Amino acid sequence: MEGRFRVIGSLCLLLLQLLNASSPSSAASPSKYSLRNGLALTPPMGWNSWNHFGCNINEDLIKQTADAMVSTGLSSLGYQYINIDDCWGESTRDSQGNLVAKASTFPSGIKALADYVHAKGLKLGIYSDAGTQTCSKRQPGSLGHEDQDAKTFASWGVDYLKYDNCEDTHGLSPKERYPIMSEALLKSGRSILFSLCEWGVEDPATWASSVGNSWRTTGDIADNWDSMTSRADQNDKWASYAGPGGWNDPDMLEVGNGGMTTKEYKAHFSVWALVKAPLLIGCDIRAMDNTTYGILSNKEVISVNQDKLGVQGKKVKSNNDLEVWAVPLSNHKVAVILWNRSSSKATVTASWSDIGLNAKTVVDARDLWTHSTLSSVSGKISAELESHACEMYVLTPHSKTSS
Ligand code: GAL
Repeated sequence: MEGRFRVIGSLCLLLLQLLNASSPSSAASPSKYSLRNGLALTPPMGWNSWNHFGCNINEDLIKQTADAMVSTGLSSLGYQYINIDDCWGESTRDSQGNLVAKASTFPSGIKALADYVHAKGLKLGIYSDAGTQTCSKRQPGSLGHEDQDAKTFASWGVDYLKYDNCEDTHGLSPKERYPIMSEALLKSGRSILFSLCEWGVEDPATWASSVGNSWRTTGDIADNWDSMTSRADQNDKWASYAGPGGWNDPDMLEVGNGGMTTKEYKAHFSVWALVKAPLLIGCDIRAMDNTTYGILSNKEVISVNQDKLGVQGKKVKSNNDLEVWAVPLSNHKVAVILWNRSSSKATVTASWSDIGLNAKTVVDARDLWTHSTLSSVSGKISAELESHACEMYVLTPHSKTSS
């Protein structure tokens, strides 16, 4: 008898899983398995200190970055988190076991910084580690101190925690260590977005949606073409696990840091937007040039990332480094990237069958980089592209032709 119930139970579970896999996450509501904090219904947007500054950070930099986020207009486009990465703390805890901001670089303390950032309408992020020390080895990690540290972060007014994976001296796996901080944050009395950074080592896409709001799927990005493209590829296979409340994270943006061409940075930003990656700027926004600003402030590309349907785009076709990436958007629209990853000029084509459109569909195609519209396109869309360049479109079907 008991065995029969178990079989029926397993069948029900299988049915539920199939239903869940076949229906896209409903618009702007957390998926069934997502973390219970209600945050990140669209991918987080903001800035993080690591890619450009490494450990060379201080409170003036953070304040000036918050100022620039507002004065450049980037905050009004959705960039709201100002995230301090590694190296903000003293190397030891205080006599009560609390983490403390480094007196020489953050003399006013993190609470004062959070107040400053909040007064600008922005949110403050901080960094810790699921081991005994952070990756710089310059400050303590939170392993064994999760409740205490979560309470400290909450008392400072922190809104976002990036949680790294170094110095796991206890020999526990990420799957065992990350949920402890997740629970601690939920109990902390403050809504704190939880960003897992275990570099994809234990396939976090398969388990982290009930633990955090984003999870790194790769090792660290570097500011070059090979690193950027390989992060995009490694992240791609986890697409079906992303949704409102929990996102795959192929690491932060390098746009504006100088190691890639403008074409490559446009492709980097386009693909990150389409795959619903967190859009965390990694350059010095106090001193960015117009080209960098033009890329990061492209509203039309940002709206693909923030589309309420919350589906992660995928590479749908690849032929000798000529690629098509696509994603369904709300209101039956489709976003598509035509991307020439080869080393010479080439034409890239997306046929409607490649991107999930009915063969008879006629669309208006909005080019998100030239901001112009091609009317009544049918069957396919093509572009002749320089090496490493992409074009990105949003296709809006004429209603009578799409079914
Ligand atoms: C790495 C992490 C980076 C950065 C760095 C700080 O493990 O992936 O994004 O946070 O640590 O030490």
